[in-house]
Amino acid sequence: MPIPRVTATVDLAAVRHNLCCVRAFAPQSKVMAAIKADAYGHGAVPVATTLAEAGVDAFAVACLEEAVTLRDAGIATRIALLEGVLSRDEAEEAARLTLEIVIHDRWQLDLLASLPAETRLAVWFKLDSGMHRLGFPLTAVPMLCEALAAHPNWTLQGWITHLACADDVDSPMTVRQIAAFETAMAGIAGERSIGNSAGLIAWPQARANWVRPGLMLYGASPMPGKVGRDLGLKPAMNVASRLIAVHEVAVGESIGYGATFVCPETMRVGVVAVGYADGVHRILPTGAPVLIHDTRVPIIGRVSMDMITVDLRALPQAAVGDPVLLWGDGLPAEEVANWAGTLAYELFCGLTNRVHYRYV
Ligand SMILES: Cc1ncc(COP(=O)(O)O)c(C=O)c1O
Repeated sequence: MPIPRVTATVDLAAVRHNLCCVRAFAPQSKVMAAIKADAYGHGAVPVATTLAEAGVDAFAVACLEEAVTLRDAGIATRIALLEGVLSRDEAEEAARLTLEIVIHDRWQLDLLASLPAETRLAVWFKLDSGMHRLGFPLTAVPMLCEALAAHPNWTLQGWITHLACADDVDSPMTVRQIAAFETAMAGIAGERSIGNSAGLIAWPQARANWVRPGLMLYGASPMPGKVGRDLGLKPAMNVASRLIAVHEVAVGESIGYGATFVCPETMRVGVVAVGYADGVHRILPTGAPVLIHDTRVPIIGRVSMDMITVDLRALPQAAVGDPVLLWGDGLPAEEVANWAGTLAYELFCGLTNRVHYRYV
C-alpha cells in the first residue's frame, strides 16, 4: 500500500460536536449548515451525511452542482442554493430536486416567473441590509410579497440577510444592519435568517429563526484573536505530511529557492513533502510553524510546489518518515492562516486534489 504524501484527516465526530455548539449558542434557531465549497474543503458528502444524521435542518450550498452532488449521494435534507439559479435549465433542475432557491435579484424573479405556472418552487428572498453584495433593497419587500401572492405554487421558506462585519464586535455595522432588516420586515410573515458563524456567536439579535453557520462547524473561530478551542469548538481537520529528508547544512549556506534563508550555524534541516500544489500557501514566511513530535518548528526558506524546509535544531531526534502537522490539533488553522495573511476559510478551501482524505 503506498503511503499518501499529504493526508487531511477529517474528524466527523468533531463536526457533530461543533453542531452541538451551534445549538448551544442558538437554541431557539433552526440550523442551515453552510457546506458549500465541498464543505469548506472537508468533503461535502461525508460532512452532510454526518450533519443529516445529527438532525441539521437544512444545508446551504453556493450553486446547483454542489446540490446535485448531495442529492446524488442520497442526501434528502433541505438544501438552499445561496446564489439561486442562473438559467431556466437550472431552475427546472432545482425544482425537480426540491432545492430551495434563494432569489436575490429582479432578473431571477423574472426567470422563475417565466416557468410554467404549475411549477412548484421553494424560495427564499434575500435582502441587502447594508453589505451591498447580494440582495434586494429593503424597499423591495412589498414588491416581493406581491410576487409571492401572484405565484400560488411558490412556497416562501424565509427572508435572508447577510452581515458584513459580524466578526468585529466593536463595529456599529451589525446593529445597523439588523435594525434596518427588522424595520423592513415589520408585520411581514415568514421566517428570518441573519447570522453566519460570527453573527450567531457574537450577536444574539442575529440568531433569528434560522442561523447559517459554516466555519464554526469545522472547528475554527470566525472571531479574530480567538481559536476554535476558545469557543468550545473542536478542529475537524488535521493536515499532515512527513519528513522525506534530513540534512546537516553548514553555517553560511542557504536553503531553497531564492536562497532567502542562510544558516546562522551548522544545523539540521528537514524537508517535508508538502507544498503550494497541495494547498500550503507560498506566502508563508520563514518562522511560520509546523508541528513535529508535538513541537513547533519553523519553516525556513521559501515554500516550493511540492516541499517545504524546516529548522530541526529544536528536535535532534527528528528523522525521515516522521509525521509533520501543517494545521489541526495543537496547531490551529487560524494561527497558520494568520502567518499567511489570510483566514482559516482559505486554508481549508485551498487544499488541492493531490491531498488524500481520510475520515474518522
Ligand atoms: C450567505 C451566507 N450565509 C452563511 C455563510 C456561512 O458563513 P460562515 O462560514 O462565516 O459561518 C456564508 C459564507 O460565506 C454565506 O455566504
